[in-house]
Amino acid sequence: MKYNFDEVVNRRNTYSMKWDGGEFLKQVGLTERYDEETIPLFTADMDLPVPQPLLDALHKTVDHKIFGYSIFPPEYFEAIQHWFKKRHDRDIKKEEIVYSPGTVHAVNVAVRALTKPGDGIIIQRPVYPPFTSAVEGNGRIVRNNALKADENGYYTIDFEDFEAKAKEENTTMFILCNPHNPVGRIFKEEELKRLSDICAENGVIIVADEIHGDLIRQNQTFTPIAKVANQLDHIVTCTAINKTFNVAGLHCTNVIITNPEVRKTFSKAMGMHLPSPFTVSALIAAYREGEDWLEQLKEYLDGTMEWVVNFLAENMPNVKVTIPEGTYVMWMDFSRYNLTPEEVHDRIYNKANVLLEDGKMFGEEGLQYQRICLPSPRPIIKEAFERIAKEFADVK
Ligand SMILES: Cc1ncc(COP(=O)(O)O)c(C=O)c1O
Repeated sequence: MKYNFDEVVNRRNTYSMKWDGGEFLKQVGLTERYDEETIPLFTADMDLPVPQPLLDALHKTVDHKIFGYSIFPPEYFEAIQHWFKKRHDRDIKKEEIVYSPGTVHAVNVAVRALTKPGDGIIIQRPVYPPFTSAVEGNGRIVRNNALKADENGYYTIDFEDFEAKAKEENTTMFILCNPHNPVGRIFKEEELKRLSDICAENGVIIVADEIHGDLIRQNQTFTPIAKVANQLDHIVTCTAINKTFNVAGLHCTNVIITNPEVRKTFSKAMGMHLPSPFTVSALIAAYREGEDWLEQLKEYLDGTMEWVVNFLAENMPNVKVTIPEGTYVMWMDFSRYNLTPEEVHDRIYNKANVLLEDGKMFGEEGLQYQRICLPSPRPIIKEAFERIAKEFADVK
């Protein structure tokens, strides 16, 4: 079976945050303009159909006609165990799995349950903005171990700074993003091992957000930090079909916690969450039968990335980009245009009418950048870039 990812499915009037959320997006300050012509490429939400087996499973659930309280059947846990063993060579025990309706929710719960108000939490900016909110919104302090970009836009970890921050009084947690959103790095085994060792030595719990771990380039491999760590007592891993299979609206994240004490504390703070029957059937189908779809998707995304890089080289050579090792986001450096971030914003959001995310949302390190999410049919991506290029033609 070959999926047609080029097919454009109209998502307007489907309660989509991306395609119907104009008023909300204006309210939160993402954009001033949003109308019928806006191309929204700001959020990690694919405009692509889900795997057929997942769709079939949801149809079967609908056909049952009754949608009461549901349970997590053994097949739910077996499907997770099967996927992580097969795809990431990670052994997970059933009792280590804790359900959460979302990853951001899980990160917030971890912060509240496993640290105290006033504690320091390490994050690596530029980084997914809800990490900052999870820290500051819960009265904890950001310790920013900023990632360093070389002249080619390849980011690495400043380990000296990381260790110093881990040693600081009251640093009790590190929220790792791997693959990293937005810089696209997949951290190498030696990097992960070093991060884990420093945290273990300094009593720092790692919350590893690995939800982009399946969405990597075809020539890359992803290693969960728990695979290479010397011990797992200080590691909490967030995984999700939300991202891999584009079912964020079905609310399904699974948090893997090996340490029974940490798990108990986290689970207590999470409270009881029974699943929706749609969540359960989607997860089982996705993890059991979604692999060929994922491989086709990865091929499609690689093709889109290649198209974008070529288009930019030809039409907007001042935009500096590298193909990310993982994730489907691209982190575009506009600094060579010598325009202010406001001017760049105005040309893209107001004039081209394309909705991205301003790099400053990811921390001050991102001021000159724009983040684009690319999991849309290529005709949409092409139109967006053509519109943007037109608005920068006078500053070539
Ligand atoms: C790194 C990262 N974590 C979490 C999320 C959101 O996940 P969820 O919808 O499960 O809260 C995203 C979405 O883009 C993300 O990129």
